[in-house]
Amino acid sequence: MRAVVQTRYGTPEAVLQVGELAKPRISDEEVLVQVRAASVHPDVWHVVAGRPWMLRWMGAGIRRPRNPVPGSDVAGVVVEVGSKAGRFAVGDEVFGETILGTQWNNGGAFAEYVSAPEESLAELPRGVSFEQAASVPTSGFIVWLNLPEREWFGTQRDVLVNGAGGGVGTIALQISKSLGAHVTAVDHTEKLDLLRNLGADRVIDYTREDFTRGDARYDLVFDVPGNHSYSTCRQALKPGGRYVLIGHESFGTEGRRIFGLITSFLLLMVRSRFDPQLGSGRTTVPSRRETMDLLRDLLAEGKLTPVVDRTFSLEEVPEALRYLASGQARGKILVTP
Ligand SMILES: NC(=O)c1ccc[n+]([C@@H]2O[C@H](COP(=O)([O-])OP(=O)(O)OC[C@H]3O[C@@H](n4cnc5c(N)ncnc54)[C@H](OP(=O)(O)O)[C@@H]3O)[C@@H](O)[C@H]2O)c1
Repeated sequence: MRAVVQTRYGTPEAVLQVGELAKPRISDEEVLVQVRAASVHPDVWHVVAGRPWMLRWMGAGIRRPRNPVPGSDVAGVVVEVGSKAGRFAVGDEVFGETILGTQWNNGGAFAEYVSAPEESLAELPRGVSFEQAASVPTSGFIVWLNLPEREWFGTQRDVLVNGAGGGVGTIALQISKSLGAHVTAVDHTEKLDLLRNLGADRVIDYTREDFTRGDARYDLVFDVPGNHSYSTCRQALKPGGRYVLIGHESFGTEGRRIFGLITSFLLLMVRSRFDPQLGSGRTTVPSRRETMDLLRDLLAEGKLTPVVDRTFSLEEVPEALRYLASGQARGKILVTP
């Protein structure tokens, strides 16, 4: 099969090329998917660059990537089913993640075929394209992992999503809306119409207004860029309100070369033990299956509208990663083999 092959860490132009590889072998719990679309998200960039270095010790591969094929979000058609995998049959159209655990690993999706655990896949809903479905899995998982549980949204909550126009933010905005929240979305001037179209009740242009200095108070600040300190963001919380940081390394320009933002997160985790406002308050970790099923339902009901910017070929993956890192994309970037 044709695949994007990465033999070492470095800039996409220097370390990625299209080559011929054997089709992946599947384990008993996996299926083989013929790839129709795969998405380019910041974690793909991290593993190609090998930055922060810590990811190499976290399983990606110390000298070179253990899996030479990047990409971890996929949509396609099942062509083979493992002996203990009973959820899908040959011919089913599916979407999801190709790896369980941390996404700081190559997942093999930038290829004609990829193996994937059946637990991290869901059926492609009718009327949703392969490109749309492939754009949501990893971002959707990070959102659902970091939002409070469904019950918390029972009474109408005021949620602010900072960085709402990005891959993670557009999904946080739409899941919060689907759970009944009143959502204020913060991003750049050019993305405000998009945010209104996605259902934001109120938008704030970060180039003109600082949400931490306004009068409004929120039950949850879901912060993607992390451009204000927690102490500053806390001023925008209602009593008992919560603050969640996703964090953005901005393609190696934020955080340190070795640990990236990991040390900042560890400090926040320690602090959260003494500060109930820090963190989502979630008591359970959602499984991949639960999350993909939620995303499937929201896609099917029209409550989650993926925003696709551009689609690239396998040969154009270095250009796609450059485009991602340029910050010019208005929606998700896809690869089709
Ligand atoms: N996407 C994924 O699948 C995924 C999964 C797991 C973890 N993550 C992590 O989550 C982080 C965010 O990913 P993403 O895909 O959402 O990134 P993204 O698409 O770049 O989104 C970030 C958004 O924040 C906006 N922003 C920048 N500065 C801001 C400011 N001062 N105030 C408010 N908004 C601001 C950006 O707008 P501009 O265009 O103006 O810069 C952009 O719309 C990354 O660090 C990534 O590693 C992502």
